[in-house]
Amino acid sequence: MLEGLFQPEFVQIAGIVILVVALGQALFSVTGILRRSHAQKEHLNDAREYLRSQTRAVLREAKRREDLFEHSWNGIRKFEVSRKVLEAESVHSLYLTPHDGKPLPPFHPGQFLTFSLRIPNQSKPVIRCYSLSDSFGKDYFRVSVKKVPPPRDRPELAPGLSSSYLNDEVFEGDILDCKAPSGNFFLDLTRDRPVVLIGGGIGITPVLSMLNALCETGSRQEIWFFLGVRNSREHVQKSHLERLAAEFDNVKLNVCYSDPIPEDKPNVDYQHQGRVGLDLFKQVLPSNNFDFYICGPPPMMNAVTEGLAQWGVPEDDVHFEAFGPASVKKKPADESKQDGSAAAAFAVTFARSQKTVTWDGTEASLLDFAEANGIAMDSGCRAGNCGSCITALKSGNVEYLNEPGSMPETGSCLTCISIPQGDVTLDA
Ligand SMILES: Cc1cc2nc3c(=O)[nH]c(=O)nc-3n(C[C@H](O)[C@H](O)[C@H](O)COP(=O)(O)OP(=O)(O)OC[C@H]3O[C@@H](n4cnc5c(N)ncnc54)[C@H](O)[C@@H]3O)c2cc1C
Ligand code: FES
Repeated sequence: MLEGLFQPEFVQIAGIVILVVALGQALFSVTGILRRSHAQKEHLNDAREYLRSQTRAVLREAKRREDLFEHSWNGIRKFEVSRKVLEAESVHSLYLTPHDGKPLPPFHPGQFLTFSLRIPNQSKPVIRCYSLSDSFGKDYFRVSVKKVPPPRDRPELAPGLSSSYLNDEVFEGDILDCKAPSGNFFLDLTRDRPVVLIGGGIGITPVLSMLNALCETGSRQEIWFFLGVRNSREHVQKSHLERLAAEFDNVKLNVCYSDPIPEDKPNVDYQHQGRVGLDLFKQVLPSNNFDFYICGPPPMMNAVTEGLAQWGVPEDDVHFEAFGPASVKKKPADESKQDGSAAAAFAVTFARSQKTVTWDGTEASLLDFAEANGIAMDSGCRAGNCGSCITALKSGNVEYLNEPGSMPETGSCLTCISIPQGDVTLDA
């Protein structure tokens, strides 16, 4: 039987089969190599593109620092309202150009301006913060201000002082006094990580600045933008957002209307009916592996941050700011009070007011404590950023609940984010 194997026909066929198999293998390995080299090439291209974008980011950051050093200012600078635009119901954008005609410094998207407003019939300037709502590198700063109505349970009260003034009484050509951009809630453009930007109501302003900055600097990272408003009447920058989503395939726009009006068209004016929150994130986001930036009213912020924690998003990946005292990530003023045990009692002396009161940990900060005891103190952001509440500490020490935006000089403290560490005397 073995003899048959050596018949010339068989040898010929076997030769052909071996040749075909060998050719097949060769072809397979050649295409494998080609496929691999194609994949390697793509990989190399990705690496090159990543390197290029990182280099661009580093150069941009170096330039930003140089420009900041050259063009920033201390104290107050005068700005002319060069344009005033109605954005939505009770919301105006003010475009501000420096009255001195000199260039503007850069800022981090997410930062805010502190205004010192000379409002008629007010005995002293009113200090308020407003986030920059556009990107940097322009010849103007833009803020977008919503007129704050009286609280629902006290309709007899006047609406918000500064927001009414800026919406109703400030016009193109007027001059406003501003401190330089500041704030710790911002997007680091040198980080090349996918982001989720979330704005609720007028809380869109800082995240809009972030979105614009990412698009204008040519970022290729994945950008999910969530906006929660009641309906189209509150939908700030609607056509601008739609244009960005159409132009940049890495921008995923998700607008939620909680209370659409009859004219609002689903999937045209808004993508989801309801509120921004964990259920929606789980439904649309590919994973929870993002940096989250959130700004909105306190109930929304609480719901969203709690939802993200539940979803296992690390605390370091969640960045947020609320417009007001809630932006302070307060520890309970005295944790011992929370479990019903006795709180530490310290004597707080307000030297100028000649008043000494016992701190029992009920108030969240020295500023709240002073106000609760009828001592007037200046304040602005109430979040340790604007420096308005800076007060000399005549004796004793304080503890900061949050890192101050800029540390006050030795011997002074920011009362809005500090609590006493023992008996203290304040120059107030
Ligand atoms: C970092 C930061 C960024 C911000 N960015 C923006 C932004 O981009 N856009 C924006 O619109 N806002 C922003 N804000 C909010 C803004 O700074 C102001 O807080 C807001 O405009 C309200 O100020 P106001 O002077 O108009 O209101 P206030 O005069 O301070 O009044 C606030 C509320 O209190 C009520 N009130 C008045 N008197 C009393 C009383 N006796 N008892 C009880 N209630 C009373 C008013 O009716 C009103 O409802 C930001 C805040 C911070 C801290
Ligand atoms: S009020 Fe702005 S730093 Fe305290």
